[in-house]
Amino acid sequence: MKALYTRRSVRKYQSKPVPVELVEEAVKAAMFAPSARNQQSWEFIIIDKPELMDEIPTFSPHAGMAKGAPVGVLICHNEDYDTAVGFFPQDLGAATQNLLLALHAQGLGAVWTGVYPREERMAGFVKMCSLPENVIPYSFTIIGWPETEPAATDRFKKERVHYNKWEGK
Ligand SMILES: Cc1cc2nc3c(=O)[nH]c(=O)nc-3n(C[C@H](O)[C@H](O)[C@H](O)COP(=O)(O)O)c2cc1C
Repeated sequence: MKALYTRRSVRKYQSKPVPVELVEEAVKAAMFAPSARNQQSWEFIIIDKPELMDEIPTFSPHAGMAKGAPVGVLICHNEDYDTAVGFFPQDLGAATQNLLLALHAQGLGAVWTGVYPREERMAGFVKMCSLPENVIPYSFTIIGWPETEPAATDRFKKERVHYNKWEGK
């Protein structure tokens, strides 16, 4: 519960490197996400080459913090495993959230940058990572040791919770 309530997007990172084992552990946690018909159509590309991290903002306009960041994880959908057609964005959203929470629990900072369904960003990752035709890039999570950590916020809105009917009780 603590991890759920304190996770925030971290967009500024220390220059110190991130051990790959920590990223791999978070990727493992991402694979424990629920998925429609348990299709688990995800693929994970860990990007740690500085020249690739620096290239990302050239095609993903809200991912400027990739430049100079130590590492990132591109989560993709592999159409070869598509048994619950149309559900992959929900499955990969759950996987991305697992990844973020696992990173946060390990003391790392991260931000989800949106890829799918923006054509330009998807095309950029397809080209940069030489993705085959059946692999669709979905989200890119940028990771590093936090330089600044945003404070936890309270987002609970009692009026958004409904019982049985819109105005029911
Ligand atoms: C689908 C999705 C796409 C997002 N894309 C970006 C992005 O491109 N760049 C960015 O800086 N943050 C991005 N975010 C992070 C949101 O801005 C952030 O989660 C939101 O403002 C709430 O703040 P918090 O994560 O600190 O709780 C994205 C989040 C989601 C769920």
